[in-house]
Amino acid sequence: MSFFTYKNGEMHAEGVTLASIAAQVGSPFYCYSAGALRAAWKEFADGMKGMNASICYAMKANSNLAVVRLFGEMGAGADIVSVGEMRRALAAGIPANRIIYSGVGKKPSELMAALEAGVGQINVESSAELETLNAVAGQLGVKADITIRVNPDVDAKTHAKITTGRKENKFGIDIDLAREAFALAGRLPNLKVVGVAMHIGSQLTEVQPYRDAIVRVRELITQLRTDGHKIDRFDIGGGLGIVYADETPPSIAEFMAVVAKETAGLDCELTFEPGRRLVGEAGVLVSEVILVKPGSAKTFVIVDAAMNDLIRPTLYEAWHDIMPVRQPRPDAATIRCDIVGPICESGDFLAQNRDLPPLAAGDLIMVRSAGAYGAVMSSSYNTRPLIPEVMVDGTRFAVVRPRPTIEEMLSAERIPPWMEKIKA
Ligand code: LLP
Repeated sequence: MSFFTYKNGEMHAEGVTLASIAAQVGSPFYCYSAGALRAAWKEFADGMKGMNASICYAMKANSNLAVVRLFGEMGAGADIVSVGEMRRALAAGIPANRIIYSGVGKKPSELMAALEAGVGQINVESSAELETLNAVAGQLGVKADITIRVNPDVDAKTHAKITTGRKENKFGIDIDLAREAFALAGRLPNLKVVGVAMHIGSQLTEVQPYRDAIVRVRELITQLRTDGHKIDRFDIGGGLGIVYADETPPSIAEFMAVVAKETAGLDCELTFEPGRRLVGEAGVLVSEVILVKPGSAKTFVIVDAAMNDLIRPTLYEAWHDIMPVRQPRPDAATIRCDIVGPICESGDFLAQNRDLPPLAAGDLIMVRSAGAYGAVMSSSYNTRPLIPEVMVDGTRFAVVRPRPTIEEMLSAERIPPWMEKIKA
């Protein structure tokens, strides 16, 4: 079921028209459907029924407090990659012991903050980090529960910039070197090894890479137990893909069936760290057409959202579906166009070579599947204020992050005291 649909010729998020939100908060803005977030969560939770497993939502996909709170209320833990995300998780009400701290380069000060807060698990990605964490835990007089993230060297068949499970990638410890790392962890007095972690990439649309990776890690777990380690947890990471264009990602039931089959008899508690799959399709970006510029090769539709608001098309050549907010007539002709922002860079586009019904200044468009890695990756390049985030729930909506004023943006900066005032 889609939570963004045309009713009476107008695009709705659940029971609210996007046009009415635009009228109140201005354009552009991100809009999240609480119903869609809950439905995605439910599909995941239902798929896990009967398994000894839990979900730690990968907050990097969308760390808005309202989104994290919504998942927290339904029982989510959090997968974090920074102390900032940890503070968000705690502020949203996620208990510290349900937080997993991942990341390839954690600083001693960050590890200390995480241990002080009592995070439940730290996924360590190198021998150097094992030593640092051991030292920090020793200073605090605590024992840190850790997994070691291994790199199983499988091809996730996804975009090069978001694949993580190959030997060439910086993530995790090479699976062939993992036993040595576990041996080191076993010798370090302030670490308690609780399991193994992996994460092979993002926007995966097939289950086979998961199967291959799990089989490799399963063999490793058997070896590690023979080596005398107690391996109780297997953190499978995130990465399940969503629909942007015509992808056919596996259903959660299909994915879980593979996981259940390949981990049968392993006697490990499983953790999943989905990000995109829980939020991606639950969010859209709404933008207003500033002007239309016909060219001899194609028409440029210049809108008020830009690469600083949604970087995915520029950074990953990502394809996001674009729809007019006012429903076009079924027989409306289309024109070939690029949907571009006002930033003076050729890379500033949201979509290229699309056939869309004619658009005019003042029309609103909706960019679909923008709930993941949208707002979180935005910047204020060109001193464009970060755009508001809105959550719809049924017929209600609330601004869950307001647009900052230019004054607020400027007030964060300082002129050095030695610079003179500009004379009038
Ligand atoms: N766990 C770990 C250790 C991760 O590194 C990631 C994502 C996840 C979980 C969540 O993956 P997901 O379920 O969302 O695929 N900015 C890129 C995606 C980067 C993903 C990085 N790691 C994009 O816009 O496509």
